[in-house]
Amino acid sequence: MADTDMQEPVYKTDALIAQDIDAYLETHQHKTMLRFITCGSVDDGKSTLIGRLLYDSKMIFEDQLAALEADSKRVGTQGQDIDFALLVDGLAAEREQGITIDVAYRFFSTEKRKFIVADTPGHEQYTRNMVTGASTADLAVILIDARKGVLTQTKRHSYLAHLIGIRNIVLAVNKMDLVDYSQAAFDKIVADYREFAHSIGIENFVAMPISGFRGDNITALSDNTPWYRAPEYFGRTLVDHLETVEVDATRDIAKPFRMPVQWVNRPNLDFRGFSGLIAGGRVKPGDPVRVLPSGRTSTIRRIVTMDGDLEEAVAGQSVTLCLADEIDCSRGNVIAVSGNPPQVADQFEATVVWMADDELIPGRAYWLKLGTQMVQATVQAPKYVVNVNTMEHLAAKTLDLNAIGVCELTTDKPIVFEPYTDNRTLGGFILIDRISNATVAAGMLHFSLRRSQNVHWQALDISRKERADLKNQKPAVLWFTGLSGSGKSTIANLVEKRLYRMNRQTFLLDGDNVRHGLNKDLGFTEADRIENIRRVGEVARLMTDAGLIVITAFISPFRAERELVRSMMEEGEFIEVFIDTPLSVAEERDVKGLYAKARSGDLKNFTGIDSPYEMPVNPEIRIDTTQMAPEEAADLIVNMLLGDIM
Ligand code: ADX
Repeated sequence: MADTDMQEPVYKTDALIAQDIDAYLETHQHKTMLRFITCGSVDDGKSTLIGRLLYDSKMIFEDQLAALEADSKRVGTQGQDIDFALLVDGLAAEREQGITIDVAYRFFSTEKRKFIVADTPGHEQYTRNMVTGASTADLAVILIDARKGVLTQTKRHSYLAHLIGIRNIVLAVNKMDLVDYSQAAFDKIVADYREFAHSIGIENFVAMPISGFRGDNITALSDNTPWYRAPEYFGRTLVDHLETVEVDATRDIAKPFRMPVQWVNRPNLDFRGFSGLIAGGRVKPGDPVRVLPSGRTSTIRRIVTMDGDLEEAVAGQSVTLCLADEIDCSRGNVIAVSGNPPQVADQFEATVVWMADDELIPGRAYWLKLGTQMVQATVQAPKYVVNVNTMEHLAAKTLDLNAIGVCELTTDKPIVFEPYTDNRTLGGFILIDRISNATVAAGMLHFSLRRSQNVHWQALDISRKERADLKNQKPAVLWFTGLSGSGKSTIANLVEKRLYRMNRQTFLLDGDNVRHGLNKDLGFTEADRIENIRRVGEVARLMTDAGLIVITAFISPFRAERELVRSMMEEGEFIEVFIDTPLSVAEERDVKGLYAKARSGDLKNFTGIDSPYEMPVNPEIRIDTTQMAPEEAADLIVNMLLGDIM
């Protein structure tokens, strides 16, 4: 095989890429697609191998994700972008949410198949990049330098590939030319790898001796490794294997039917269909189905596509399903085979891969996006984290960048899911920071915790409206926030007295008081403050359900938790009152002498001194205590409250 004339692939401009995508879709629509990832560092010859693959297969075009994203949105409206949408799905979301992923996607095709290869650099951000790049991959090529054998990074890459559910592993022992195509060297590496692979649960892999540089066993069996043709070896070329290995899409067809609903298609009153990408199984008109989480059942009436109705649709296809009955079904619901539906739960064990510079804050609410479902989730401190170099399980209080931990997590609403090992679409999720909107983690659900299945909502006969009506008022939460000594309790007290005189039924929850009872187990670490506010939020919520006007006076220093409480209340019931007192003024007053203690180091984690206070961005009411006396402030708040809501 020629090796000296190997050229760098020609890279194209965005505009050409756009044209190419159309042409590419046209020519290769009928072929199956294999997504794969290459793992290894530059030294292992990864770039050479990819270059070789692209070159030998007369690569059609090379592309970067961003250009593809823009274009797939364009073709998406014409309904012909099935494969590209698949690729971009999830990853696009991560891009939009500001995560910097260093993954290059390249496209090529052969007579038999089209390919997308995700190439992740092997530097220190490996975990994040690899998890992102591999999240939809069918196969991983683990590159080994024949001179070096199985290295720590080989193990790390294999572990990650296995973790994210890649079931086809190719051990490509590269640079065989540099060890004189030695069968013994190859055998030794494969034996070493087998032992390791077995220890982490990789049951199957295929091993091949190659040279990306010389082209051995890439597209044609090499005469330099005649022994590789013996029956005990895999005996086939890399391209041959890539062209024929079973892809996940094919495997998914054998699974039970599931389709997460992306959107409800209702152009007019005569048509109502549910559009989405089938995540598992096959479906035909007449099939009995169940909509989750509601559990309502119906049957499939029609399967609609751009090209007309279908008699059957399978995993990997985007379709619109029409049901025989008018049942509730919206974005985020899952339509599934009636007799074997996925589970619904709100507490889970999961593996979480942390991808943000800021560490996980146990107990804080993040957005959890699982397919088309979006809920709030809190993650507990990890049960353990995995050292990806040694596979050891270590104790940890949190997850920092690139950490992989097994954690319990709770969602605010039940979600439809399957264990990740059964279904990557319904078991894989990302976590998004609620303030910055950045993707902070990717995760894989293991199973639901049984306790979540046995606790149900008890429907009460007397509603919150009836309770409030009896009190002749609209419930609300006046949520005071501000530094210690800013005047929250003083003003809150005055507000309550005024409301009481007006016959309003109120209750005042005050930080110092609640910390003597309900929250006496909590201190002032970040995690404890978050839990403090979460509990107070829940209590306030119950009190508004009872019809009360609740006044709370807590520093509540973090925006995320104040927003969490806001989201727990009914629309318009949460009124954030920012008691805006500059630190210097609060410290000057120092009513409780705590600032002095904090300054002298006798009191740790004191807000404003060595613990942060995040000011409200858009509070409903802001009181500048340097401009206004407490009585005046109380009048203002009462007027705004009553004018606003009653
Ligand atoms: S919060 O941060 O979790 O919202 P919370 O309002 O309940 O705090 O409690 C604050 C009160 O606890 C302060 O007014 C002060 O009296 C007392 N306190 C004791 N230690 C601290 C500390 N390290 N930081 C802030 N307040 C403290």
